[in-house]
Amino acid sequence: DWKMDAFVENTIKEIREKVGDGRVLLALSGGVDSSVAAGLLSRAIGKQLTCVFVDHGLLRKDEGDEVEAVFGPKGQFDLNFIRVNAQERYYNKLAGVTEPEAKRKIIGEEFIRIFEEEAKKIGAVDFLAQGTIYPDVVESGLGGESAVIKSHHNVGGLPDYVDFKEIIEPLRDLFKDEVRKAGLELGLPEKLVFRQPFPGPGLGIRIIGEVTADKVRIVQDADAIYREEIANAGLDRTIGQYFAALTNMRSVGVMGDERTYDYAVALRAVNTVDFMTAEAAEIPYEVLNKVMSRIINEVRGVNRVFYDLTSKPPGTIEFE
Ligand code: XMP
Repeated sequence: DWKMDAFVENTIKEIREKVGDGRVLLALSGGVDSSVAAGLLSRAIGKQLTCVFVDHGLLRKDEGDEVEAVFGPKGQFDLNFIRVNAQERYYNKLAGVTEPEAKRKIIGEEFIRIFEEEAKKIGAVDFLAQGTIYPDVVESGLGGESAVIKSHHNVGGLPDYVDFKEIIEPLRDLFKDEVRKAGLELGLPEKLVFRQPFPGPGLGIRIIGEVTADKVRIVQDADAIYREEIANAGLDRTIGQYFAALTNMRSVGVMGDERTYDYAVALRAVNTVDFMTAEAAEIPYEVLNKVMSRIINEVRGVNRVFYDLTSKPPGTIEFE
């Protein structure tokens, strides 16, 4: 794609001119936008870029390691990569908390605290980079898998908790499909470039009620099976957004000759134009049936699987 090729070349040039020999800090969420921003900045200024990636323990299965494989020391990009494994910290903060907004608030504030701590260790930087894209500039990023930092800090996007002089937003003029093209141009893996939207609070809002390490395990494993079977059925690029969630409902079942009292997993899949409204996707029954049987057989603690037929409105896409 010659146009994207030109965009990448020009942007790299512009970043070099703007940054000079300054230092740049980026909160990397592993989403498309912040990843493409990281790729561009790395190609432009290498180790003058530091990326902080916070693994809050609410990512999809293996996602933390996948982000590290691309951007960490064994990956393909020249940059300083800091991974903060904050799983325990988040689970402790979230213990006993059941109210959706309270959970969101804790997850957001903890992120800011951690990012601030890391920024302090790094010391003053010249630029704070953000993966803001054009639709974020116009509205405030509804439905985008924009960097975690933005989803909690939308207004103007200027965090006051990090010592920096200027903001740098290399994707500001791009639409989502252009960001993806730029990502491919930069050699980011397709898996990352075509990643589904994923909310900043992560699995925290796909586990109804209290978040515990065990519930995270259940929803991660169920979701991984769901995604695998959707991909096997060739549907992964046709459905707008799909994921497994953990209802807070337990019910009686039977496994072998034992009575069980386990959780119900809900499968969600929607088609949508703008994420403001959505309809449940029509997934072939055989696919759903296979996912159900695999989840119940392979994920300990689950004895029922539901498919969510609800449109938005009245439902939302996420569960909290
Ligand atoms: P709802 O659940 O409101 O979701 O129908 C609409 C779209 O927005 C995503 N979403 C979020 N994205 N931070 C984000 O970056 C958030 O806090 C957040 N909450 C929901 C959701 O995945 C869907 O694509």
